[in-house]
Amino acid sequence: MKVSVTTLSLQDLDVDLLILPIGHMMAKARALQIGGPIGTALSSALIDFEGKPGETLLCYPTEGRARRVAMIGLGDPYEIDREELRKAAADGTRLAMKTKASTVALCLPDSSIDAEAAGQSLVEGYMLAAYEYDRYKTDSGEPKVGTERLVLHASSDEKAARRGAERGRVEAESTMTARDLVNLSPHEKTPTLLGKIVERSGRKYGYEVSVWDKSDIEKEKMGGLLGVNRGSVEPPTLIEMTWNPSKASNSRPVVLVGKGIVFDTGGLSLKPTKNSMDHMKADMAGGAAVIGAMEAIARLDVPLYVIGLVPATDNRPGQDAYVPGDVLRMHSGMTVEVLNTDAEGRLILADVLSYAKLYRPEIVIDLATLTGAQVVALGSQVAAVMTRQDEDANERLDAMMTAGNRSGDLLHPMPMHAHYADALKSEVADIKNIGNREAGSITAAKFLEHFVDYPWVHVDIAGPAFLKKSLPYRPIGGTGFGVRLLTEFIRDYAYPKKR
Ligand code: BES
Ligand code: ZN
Ligand code: ZN
Repeated sequence: MKVSVTTLSLQDLDVDLLILPIGHMMAKARALQIGGPIGTALSSALIDFEGKPGETLLCYPTEGRARRVAMIGLGDPYEIDREELRKAAADGTRLAMKTKASTVALCLPDSSIDAEAAGQSLVEGYMLAAYEYDRYKTDSGEPKVGTERLVLHASSDEKAARRGAERGRVEAESTMTARDLVNLSPHEKTPTLLGKIVERSGRKYGYEVSVWDKSDIEKEKMGGLLGVNRGSVEPPTLIEMTWNPSKASNSRPVVLVGKGIVFDTGGLSLKPTKNSMDHMKADMAGGAAVIGAMEAIARLDVPLYVIGLVPATDNRPGQDAYVPGDVLRMHSGMTVEVLNTDAEGRLILADVLSYAKLYRPEIVIDLATLTGAQVVALGSQVAAVMTRQDEDANERLDAMMTAGNRSGDLLHPMPMHAHYADALKSEVADIKNIGNREAGSITAAKFLEHFVDYPWVHVDIAGPAFLKKSLPYRPIGGTGFGVRLLTEFIRDYAYPKKR
């Protein structure tokens, strides 16, 4: 989608659809302020429009240049936030598609949000709502109209609006990269093919990519990743992405780790098909989020040294598959008794987390579709965030939550008291890979904690990574959850005082 910014008078916009987001009870004032044929059209439609969130109304000016004007409700004008703008823009996308408008203008509303943030949010909402995954539709039907080009209208602060619009476009496109990867059929994203896709992305956007093969992984003695891979006919890979611009403000990197289980059958502890295994092509959504975030960070030229690591394998019950009772020796040297082959994510992540120590990272953040318990606890719109309980734990959680609230990728913290680790005690090895039925997301995080010795944040995205029912700007299927979260976190980290 092409996105541009204009400061022309609204009356001069020659478009099929002009979209005006308007706060509750603000439509009358807005109509007067705008005046001319558009103001007249708005005034005549006011009897049917209050401006509540989700409310939309189309009107047809009899004069002037815009063929259609849509009012979209934003609710309480004092409580308009970025998310409200994204949702309003998404309503605009639906109207543009419905009316087959090929030229669309979206107007920055009067609100307390600055033009940069408002521009970013509107573009994100509009573009993300227009996403459709049609790779496997033989006849993709009528060509899509209404989503090729967007003109953002700013009445003042053009430069800020332009900066916001550009960032919104990059973050939306990077989110769509992650959606595409999650929605891709598993046979097209084997660990090797996924590596090739990322190499192409690195060449396109200017970050380095190195794909480890099985022998590299064996040399590093990554017993977790190799153990999970034993049932597969496809060799594992470890995809390493590096963004280290000369102007980076840090010498020790920020490391992002993403779970890359390209398909999770559960292994010998086989999952049932319905509502369980049937969604497990999404078990690499953490990896997809890291890949999308690396694209965004490189495209936005963020002055920070960032490394992305995605261990990739499928988890299958093959002839040589690992079995309950197997003891694995991990990269860290620790031994793990496998009591359920479906708790595989933590095994591949543990190896990469302990490998990440070599970088002496300032902080490591991992994203993973790790536990069904996360979905039970928080549902499909909020991810769980956990961190090591040291003196800086609250500061780290605050920074993550702030990025979550700003990006719309919402987080909620889970406790990490020491006693939760007791559930992982093993009779035969150092630890086992499952706890009991209680607090499943926390015991999974406690498992990972054994393999880190640096500031670390874990985000369990099992619920929000993949939807069975659509949300305003998130479609059914892969959502790209985490791309905007990580990108906003990294931007805050790189420019701490400016914002
Ligand atoms: N990939 C799943 C977790 C998952 C469940 C993601 C639902 C998305 C939606 C993970 O590998 C898994 O199977 N976890 C097990 C762990 C258990 C055996 C300790 C789970 O949560 O049931
Ligand atoms: Zn599993
Ligand atoms: Zn899994």
